Amino acid sequence: MRVLGISGSLRRDSHNAKLLREAGRLLEEQGLEFVVFDGLRDVPPYDEDEDVPEAHPAVQRLRDEIAAADALVFSTPEYNHSIPGHLKNAVDWASRPLATNPLRNKPVAVVGASTGMFGAVWAQAELRKVLGATGARVVEGELPLGHAHERFGEDGRLADPNLAEQLEEVVSALVAELAPAGVAQAA
Ligand code: FNR
Repeated sequence: MRVLGISGSLRRDSHNAKLLREAGRLLEEQGLEFVVFDGLRDVPPYDEDEDVPEAHPAVQRLRDEIAAADALVFSTPEYNHSIPGHLKNAVDWASRPLATNPLRNKPVAVVGASTGMFGAVWAQAELRKVLGATGARVVEGELPLGHAHERFGEDGRLADPNLAEQLEEVVSALVAELAPAGVAQAA
């Protein structure tokens, strides 16, 4: 099973990239493969005229990597109480054609980090709504990681055990979506 991680931040020292890596570590501990998508900055602005079978290579890559994944984890920053424009743009590209888009029925978890005290809580709600509109199966649970600049140790790990536990809950909800029904019930 392969899980694709998408950080909504393009920043080098992004707290969301760190949070995504923490989620990835937990998924790998559960025996899943975790891959981070690194092509977000290459995705052009959505243009319906350009949304043709031979779409821009960066768009094709985004769609292919989503299609090849069994599940996704998004970690989003909050920009002006919403999600970053480039992240919304990428989801818009991935959402077409609506009936057969690669996000449809895909289990997806959303977490987020911000340096403010509310931890990207609005951005996570927005992203959940947008992903829901694409037909993705957005799992319950979120992680509003506030004051993100104070939350990671030198080793890049989440320092607060309560926050680590909340992240584990979100990751477990995603893994439960992937497990066959019998296994999920037995666990
Ligand atoms: C922000 N930031 C921010 N934080 C927040 O809690 N609520 C907000 O509405 C905003 N708005 C906002 C707009 C813009 C344009 C920027 C650049 C930043 C701060 C943001 O949380 C902070 O930059 C994080 O560090 C971004 O996440 P990464 O890049 O560390 O993953």
